[in-house]
Order: sequence, then structure tokens, then C-alpha cells
Amino acid sequence: MKIIFTCRFVPLNWLRSSSQSPRRYFSSKELPKFYATPIFYVNSVPHIGHLYTTVYADALHRFTRLCFPNNDVTTTIFSTGTDEHGLKIQKSAQSKNINLNEYCDQISSKFRQLFNDAETSYTHFIRTTDDQHKKVVQNLWKILMDKGFIYKSKYCGYYSVNDETFVPDNLITTNSNGEKISIESGHKLEWYEEENYVFRLSQLQERIIDWIDNHLIMKPENYHQSLKADIRNIKNFKDLSISRSKTRLQWGIEVPGDDTQLIYVWFDALVNYLTVTGYPNKQPVIWPPCHVIGKDIIKFHCIYWPAFLLAAELPLPERIYCHSHWLYDRQKMSKSLGNVVDPFECIEQFTADGIRYFLLKEGTPHSDSNFNLDAVKTCLNAELADTFGNLLNRCTSEKLNPKQSYPFVSLDEIQEYLPESLDTINFIETLSNECFESYLDGNFHIGITNVMQCLRSINGLFNLIQPWKFVQKHPHNDNDNDLNQKRLKCLLFLSLESIRISAILLNPIVPNISKSIFEKLNISQEFCQWKFAKINNSKQQNDNRISSKKLIIFSKLT
Ligand code: MSP
Repeated sequence: MKIIFTCRFVPLNWLRSSSQSPRRYFSSKELPKFYATPIFYVNSVPHIGHLYTTVYADALHRFTRLCFPNNDVTTTIFSTGTDEHGLKIQKSAQSKNINLNEYCDQISSKFRQLFNDAETSYTHFIRTTDDQHKKVVQNLWKILMDKGFIYKSKYCGYYSVNDETFVPDNLITTNSNGEKISIESGHKLEWYEEENYVFRLSQLQERIIDWIDNHLIMKPENYHQSLKADIRNIKNFKDLSISRSKTRLQWGIEVPGDDTQLIYVWFDALVNYLTVTGYPNKQPVIWPPCHVIGKDIIKFHCIYWPAFLLAAELPLPERIYCHSHWLYDRQKMSKSLGNVVDPFECIEQFTADGIRYFLLKEGTPHSDSNFNLDAVKTCLNAELADTFGNLLNRCTSEKLNPKQSYPFVSLDEIQEYLPESLDTINFIETLSNECFESYLDGNFHIGITNVMQCLRSINGLFNLIQPWKFVQKHPHNDNDNDLNQKRLKCLLFLSLESIRISAILLNPIVPNISKSIFEKLNISQEFCQWKFAKINNSKQQNDNRISSKKLIIFSKLT
């Protein structure tokens, strides 16, 4: 993927041609049209880590729509949903003495509710217990069977119910009680020995390695590098057991033509990405998906999934975003430690935009991040309430802006009357390209930091210029008064422009705030598009009036 960017600081004379289409910097064709989150296990209610995965994918999806000409919403898919079969869910429902269907309904609806409350823009919510999905899974099974990729054999090994996977010998250790434990997840293992259907993963080893090395774009780079290294360390891929005997597992999709076996839950779950496209009735029009996954499920998405697709002769994913995990007070979140953060409470306390902002600003995809309620408060107060909110209050106050106008000022005028702003202007002009690059890499934290820096820089101009002093007119010096009014007009223009541009660039992060800013500035939502995130690019040529309705971007948390 080749994207051309300008250097960080553009000369001011370049700005004169900034009405040229921003398409010269990137093409929306390069952005994926299908984003998919993993589907979530319904063995327990959602926590903040689950919300992060979905909000992260949502930001990518919203970013893509913002870059499409006219925000074309009809041509994208954003899928999420729940993974409802398998031993883990079966055991969980049994331990609570609840009917499995009811149990899945209850928890699945909590995930859906959460993703609605968090303003995620998903287009499909899939459940693996949906009849249509079951048909697609069985259909793909038959295709792979017909192509000779599935055979029956005795299979044995240590199995982690929690991770729903067999664990190879080199990743097993023994704890102080003599129990076998997975080194990667720390979960207990059980010895399994049974007759299963097995998938010929070994046959696809070279093609999978070639895809990982030469075709896959995986972000961030550290996960791609460690995947490449890990895969080189596996001498021979072992064939994969893809069914379980009904004596052990009763909750799953039946193997076609064999009522003694159920399909392995990861085979079932991964196929959800095909189900949402309408496959096999329709060949997927929008394909392949761009995956957003947590670091714990790389093996399933980067080895098993491409293997199933290769066997079915379907195109492989081109792009995968992987993210690290949220810790609570630097510890892994777990029910047993009682430190699991409830995302519903977070939305209640911080608003949907507030928690989205914190997760995407403070979450670093390449390394684990720490969740702490005080940190959320400090971040939101400093950035959304103070930096962003104060700037809006300043330039829309009755005192500094008695006409309540969004003035139009040419860049020549700014150069003449507000020369101290030129560095800031250069910064704003490169902001959308910088943000584009960061967002495309999945580094929302970098893009947001740049936007905040721009807003802080404008706040800095206010402190430097002190326009509140201009409001008291010099009794005998009309020249000074005139100059001050021109300087004030330039400052208001630049402030409102930077607020408008920030509302576009932060739209994938805080969609409600973005929308309310456009309303406050009295600009139609159709101008909330990436290509308009440049100074003087809102098609406005005259002074406009802003809305008189008071807007508080974010109410300070006490
Ligand atoms: N059901 C499988 C996925 C099947 S996709 C074909 C699964 N489900 S899960 O509910 O355990 O995890 C779903 C997502 O939540 C994963 O991407 C996982 O990494 C993410 N997270 C779980 N805990 C997390 C944190 N503490 N922090 C960030 N993300 C976390 O795996």
C-alpha cells in the first residue's frame, strides 16, 4: 500500500492551493470495506476488554466511511456478534443450572446492548446459534470434506477448555499441584483421547507461511514480527482436530453425516465471517474481511483461518489489526481476582464518547495498557473538558464573539494580521495527513495526540494574543481598534476552523461530540468528511452564524 504524504510543515504558499482535492494524498480505495471483530464468548458478561476490541474496530469502520466520497455507508460491512457453542459455554451454563438456549440469549443480548450503548456502527450482529450460520458451517465442512481436507483419525493431546484449543508439548508446564498448565494462558489442561475428524493443516504449511511473510499486512509491526518468528520455530504443522465426540460435548453444530460428532468451536466461530456476507448463496461481494483481534487469538486468525480459506479456495485476509490487552491496576483482569471492569458502568459514569476516547487515546495496540478509574477522569477532564471544551467556550463566548459568527478570513489576511499563528497553521494543514497515517496503522492514540496538540496550540495563541483586552476599545485610536478587530476575527476564524477540523478527525473516536460540534457551528453533517479537514475547505466563503444553543463538549468530572 503506497500512500503519499506531505512533509510535516508545508510552506504557507502551499495553502493557497489547498482547495485542490485531498485525494492527491490518498485513495479511499485503499481502505478495507469489511471490518470484523472476533465474536465474543457468552460464558460471562462483557468486560472493558471486549468493549475495547469493538470500539477499536468501530473507529476503523467510521474512519473508512469518513474517507469514502460522501460517506457512502452502503458499501461497508462491520460485523460483530457472539460465539455460543463449545465446552466452555456448556460448562458455564451447566454450573449455573440454566438452560443453554436461555443462557446464550441472555448474555448475547448483553453484548448487543453494550455495542449499542457504546454507539458502535456495526452493520451485522451474528450469533453462532443462528440457523443460517449453522447451515454455512456445515456447507463449508462438506466442501472441505469433498476436497479431501478432512479425514477421521484417533486424536490425543492436552486440551484447554478455557482457550478451546489443544496445546502443543512445548507450551505445557506443570504447576505445584502436579496439574498440566498452558504456558501461554495459564489455564488448566485436560488429557483427551478420542476418534475425531482431522483437518490437513500440515498440507498448507508452506502457503500459510508465504501469506504471513509476503502478503499479510499486520498491525502493529511487533505482532507481525513475532508471528513470523514463531511460525519459523514450528518444524512441522500438525493436522488439526476439528470435531469432538458427543460423549464429551453436547452443545455445537453436528458434523454432516455423523450424529456422534460435533464441529470444533473454532471452526464454527471463524466461519461467522463468511456467514455475514450471505455465503454460500451469494459469492461474497465484499471480501476479504479486515480483522481486528486481541493478541491472544493470533494463532486462530493467522494459521487456522487462512488454512480453512485456502482449502476452500477463497481469498485470504489482507489486513489484520491486532491489539494488546487492558490490565487493571497492572494486573490481568479476571473474575477470580474480582478486578473485571464493567463497561456499562463506565458508559454510565463517563458517557459513551468519554469511555471511547479514553480507550482509544490511552490504549496502545503494541503493548498492554493499564485501566484505572482515576486515570480516566484525569484524561477526560484535561483533554475533552479543558483543552477542547475551553477552546469552544472561548471562541463562542458573547464577550469575544458578540455577533456569534463563524467569520471567513483569507489566508492573506491571517498572514498580515496574525503572523504569530503561522506555525500553528502549518501544523493544522498537515494534521489530517498525519492522522490518516496513524489511523490507518491502527494507532489511534497517535492521531488523537496530534489533534489535542493542535487544540492546545490554538489555546496557546489565545493566551499569547489575549483578545479579551481588545474588547475594551482605545478611546482615541481608531487605527488600533481596527487592527485589533482584524486580529480578533483572524483568531476566531482559526479557532473555529481547528474545532471543525478536530470534529472531523475525532469523529471515529467521539461520534456524538463530533455531531454536536457540527450542529453548534451550524454546518451541515454532510461536510463531516475527511476531505474537508483542511483550513478553508468547508466550502464556506462568507461569515456564518453559529448556533446560539450552548454546547458543553464534555462536562467536567468531579
Ligand atoms: N470467541 C473467541 C473469538 C472467536 S472469533 C472467530 C474469543 N472470544 S473472547 O470473548 O474470549 O474474546 C474476544 C476478544 O476480546 C478478543 O479479541 C480478546 O483479545 C478481547 N479481550 C479479552 N480480554 C481483553 C482485555 N483484557 N483487553 C483487551 N481485549 C481483550 O476469543
